[in-house]
Amino acid sequence: MKVGVLTGGGDCPGLNAVIRGVVRKAERTYGDEVVGFLDGWRGLLDDRQMPLDVEACRGLVTRGGTILGTSRDQPYMFDDGVERVKATMARHCVDALIVIGGEGTLSAAARVHADGVGLVGVPKTIDNDVAGTDRTFGFDTAVQTATDAIDRLRTTAESHDRVIVVEVMGRHVGHIATWAGIAGGATIVLVPEEPFDISAICESLRRRHQRGRFSSIVVVAEGATPAPGTLDVSEPTIDEYGHARLGGIGNVVAKEIEQRTGFETRVTVLGHVQRGGTPSALDRVLSTWYGVAAMTAAHEGDFGTMVAFQNNRVVRMRLDECVASLKYTHPDLLSVARTFFP
Ligand code: F6P
Repeated sequence: MKVGVLTGGGDCPGLNAVIRGVVRKAERTYGDEVVGFLDGWRGLLDDRQMPLDVEACRGLVTRGGTILGTSRDQPYMFDDGVERVKATMARHCVDALIVIGGEGTLSAAARVHADGVGLVGVPKTIDNDVAGTDRTFGFDTAVQTATDAIDRLRTTAESHDRVIVVEVMGRHVGHIATWAGIAGGATIVLVPEEPFDISAICESLRRRHQRGRFSSIVVVAEGATPAPGTLDVSEPTIDEYGHARLGGIGNVVAKEIEQRTGFETRVTVLGHVQRGGTPSALDRVLSTWYGVAAMTAAHEGDFGTMVAFQNNRVVRMRLDECVASLKYTHPDLLSVARTFFP
């Protein structure tokens, strides 16, 4: 059979390792062929692709980004989008797709499958918010990057007796903030799941100073919001895909802390540094496992599924069920983080 692969949405470490796993399994186990579509769904809409074989994938397990390119475009942005996808597949004799993406890309995949295209999904995102899987690949690397940054910021915060606010990614969920916050020994962690009260945060920081600790690290997920009526923040602008353009809550929180407490405060927005670079060992293994498992599902014709990591192994879930909701940070873990708040 011939399988098409695409990577959609924001990039993340491990995408290339998935592609490599798919190709290896296809070629060496099944004698199947693989073609890569470029820039996510765009490649299928515009018929842009590249052949993929084991030679083309050598060394990819360590390389960040995606050799296929990515975009947030998807078929339902166009009246004839699904027909164009099917036409491109037919032109290249592609029997099925392996769609590697996060919430947006996989939601489109579930609809494309319902419209008659055989496909298997692979959950990708540093945000770790795809339901049905304990882990998306890319998350572990992002947490390590954020933790390394917090470790570095701590020493300078201590030297200057400063509060440092670290803004991390996480538009709907606080997985990165919570994990990196706990790992980095943050003073306070703010997540989208629990709107924050800036007065309570400032009070906590004052208490800490009264106990003789004059530096603090406050980790803020980019999607964190103040509790209603506690603080005015400007509405984010919306991009062409209907996503709020986030990034900025760290600055708001830092300004308020400095004004209200008088403690000298700085802010660091980690941004896309969390998405770049080589995957961690865990993400390399998870991505490879996902790639091999997705190709196995595709070869067996088990379409409309998503490979998922549960109880330390990769299983198959129904894709439409996985995209029906997001996976939020577990309240137990949020409570662990809160245990260390002053
Ligand atoms: O892929 C998820 C994500 O990294 C979010 O955490 C973040 O809000 C968003 O992508 C940023 O998107 P862009 O790269 O388009 O600015």
